[in-house]
Amino acid sequence: MSSILVTGGAGYIGSHTCVELLEAGYDVIVVDNLCNSSQEALNRVETITGKKVKFYQADIADQEAMEKIFRENHIFGVIHFAGLKAVGESVQKPLEYYQNNISGTLNMCQVMREHGVKNIIFSSSATVYGDPETVPITEQCPKGQCTNPYGWTKSMLEQILTDIQKADSEWNVILLRYFNPIGAHKSGRIGEDPNGIPNNLMPYVMKVAIGELPYVNVFGNDYPTPDGTGVRDYIHVVDLAAGHVKALKKIEECPGIKIYNLGTGKGYSVLEVIDNVSKAVGKEIPYRITERRAGDIAECYSDASLAKAELGWEAQYGMKEMCEDSWNWQKMNPKGYR
Ligand code: NAD
Ligand code: UD1
Repeated sequence: MSSILVTGGAGYIGSHTCVELLEAGYDVIVVDNLCNSSQEALNRVETITGKKVKFYQADIADQEAMEKIFRENHIFGVIHFAGLKAVGESVQKPLEYYQNNISGTLNMCQVMREHGVKNIIFSSSATVYGDPETVPITEQCPKGQCTNPYGWTKSMLEQILTDIQKADSEWNVILLRYFNPIGAHKSGRIGEDPNGIPNNLMPYVMKVAIGELPYVNVFGNDYPTPDGTGVRDYIHVVDLAAGHVKALKKIEECPGIKIYNLGTGKGYSVLEVIDNVSKAVGKEIPYRITERRAGDIAECYSDASLAKAELGWEAQYGMKEMCEDSWNWQKMNPKGYR
């Protein structure tokens, strides 16, 4: 039986996707260099599912290591999460970001081609739309200007994979544009475990909820939105993970190139998120309004109808569950995987 290679499978979205894949009956191989994750996440994936994950600790840019993985296994396709993702850090270290995300992917695609493995699902982001002219955002909306190197790596990798497929129709490429993943597995055994002070809203709010940080900085309340704070399309990570299983089913139909938004189609403001977390935690989460963050946009939420029509996928969980599950993970693992 052929297996699915999950790059970056020890990470936040990768580990949740491994659970969904194993539960759907796929054999899962993970390659991860653990630069932003812990192998403990994979141990927990095995505990949750009662199934084994074959793990290779390696960098996707390491040609020999990647060759070995493809030689030793019969791989049907790749779900490609591996990459650096910290927006602010990417501005400081553009070379490292382009090197890791772009060169790593190019190397991996070469090895895939040599081994006749031409099915790939790629983790892209709503960031490729830039500052959208209208919301909700459909896949037809033009790509925009990214405000940071991280975003450009996503935009460029989309183009690279599109060109590879155009040149060789044996390739099947699905670009999944994630909106804002939050939440954690219901078991509370796997979740998001950021290093240092979090940049993204939900992990930051969780640090306030657990008492490690005093209050949330709300980045601006003068946006043209109902309460003035930024509006985003938050999606439960388990829904997002399930979207990958659906995308894999689509790949099995040899679709060529496809692009799907993975979001709920509903936007929530920063204050609404804080309010929902307060309810889940059972106490008020303190916050202060501060300056806007450079590069932020007012509103970003998806039109999620294409994924529903073509993949038969739609988000099952709402904001309440996202907050409850984030809190459950945080409470059960105050120090993350450490
Ligand atoms: P994550 O950092 O938790 O997971 C990424 C994993 O890739 C980590 O385990 C890391 O160790 C590994 N990795 C990084 N570079 C590697 C390399 N060169 N070789 C091998 N392994 C490597 O991040 P995540 O939130 O799970 O995101 C997964 C993917 O989804 C990323 O590509 C990210 O850019 C993309 N994405 C994430 C979000 C989000 O909000 N989390 C939104 C849109 C897109
Ligand atoms: C950010 C990245 C985006 C990336 C995504 C997922 C930027 C500009 N964009 O999106 O490229 O794909 O994360 O990793 O960084 N907020 C606060 N206080 C905080 C943190 C955030 O008010 O401490 C607000 C933001 O202004 C925004 C919302 O919360 O309105 C969500 O922010 P965040 O979680 O960082 O995600 P995005 O900015 O949407």
